[in-house]
Amino acid sequence: MTLAEELKGFLKEAEAELASPDVDVEAVRVAFLGKKGKITGVLKSMKDLSVDEKKEVGQVGNQVRTAIQEKIEEKKAEQEAKALEEKLAAETLDVTLPGAKPKLGSAHVLQQIMDEIEAHFLGLGYQIIDDPTDSPEVETDEYNFERENLPKDHPARDMQDTFYITPEILLRTQTSPVQSRVLEKHDFSKGPLKMIAPGKVYRRDTDDATHSHQFHQVEGLVVGKNITMADLKGTLLSIMQELFGEKHQIRLRPSYFPFTEPSVEVDVSWDEVTPDTKPEDIKWIEVLGAGMTHPNVLKMDGVDPEEYTAFAFGLGPDRFAMLKYGVEDIRQFYLNDVRFLDQFNERGI
Ligand code: PHE
Repeated sequence: MTLAEELKGFLKEAEAELASPDVDVEAVRVAFLGKKGKITGVLKSMKDLSVDEKKEVGQVGNQVRTAIQEKIEEKKAEQEAKALEEKLAAETLDVTLPGAKPKLGSAHVLQQIMDEIEAHFLGLGYQIIDDPTDSPEVETDEYNFERENLPKDHPARDMQDTFYITPEILLRTQTSPVQSRVLEKHDFSKGPLKMIAPGKVYRRDTDDATHSHQFHQVEGLVVGKNITMADLKGTLLSIMQELFGEKHQIRLRPSYFPFTEPSVEVDVSWDEVTPDTKPEDIKWIEVLGAGMTHPNVLKMDGVDPEEYTAFAFGLGPDRFAMLKYGVEDIRQFYLNDVRFLDQFNERGI
């Protein structure tokens, strides 16, 4: 084999090596074109050839060198392009994927019930009293009890024992004192008073499934001329049907509260009531207390009971939420367990 043929053979050899996709291009370069490479080796052994032969072998040597160089460059470019493609594929950002939604909180289930009650009474033209000036949770004995017709040593105080800060300052046991705070300032030349007072109340009860030392009430009071028990009944029916559904009915039973006369306990039907339902089949659940405001209370608030009459009611949002959602333990509302509260997440997340 002549040297020229040998050199041409190198080109084939290099091409064959470079055909493999993962070939080490640099190693091929060193093996063929390096200082100690195959081509240099052949060119070094030319010294015994004639001038013409040297010229020919030299030319072939250069051609082969250039050709291998080109192949190497091609392969390098090919490998780089492939690597880039793979990198891009691996790092692809799919902008059409849905984003990670931050978890949003929601109003507490009791707040949701109170919002529903507030919205209903706003629609009936009531004002909502919830600022701490007119609706303080730390109350005086005077407003919480005395102004509600419960003088000191009145036996009915036993039903509402509370936490005392001093003998005269206490955590309110009911939202009824808000009635007096608002009524004593009311200007009747501007029309009757229609208000609700949602808020927290406290009792010295031992916590169990149906008692909590802190719970909620929404007080309602309407004072005007010719306000009757029929107005009270219609108002209570409207809020109960708003909360439980239009087919539910209410029942009023005589009861006793020191600040109302007559007083009633109000029950709501557990199931829907249709014209075919037999009265004896209706199951009633007690949900609130109400009555016609006692003349003594009106007098203490500076209102003439001969001229004005009034009704009042006290709703229990905790009780409503328990009935509405089948919650069996009132303490669930106050444990702040997100797994429980999330069931009432209005945003449905
Ligand atoms: N304040 C009463 C209670 O807590 C409820 C009530 C309010 C009753 C208004 C009658 C009128 O038991």
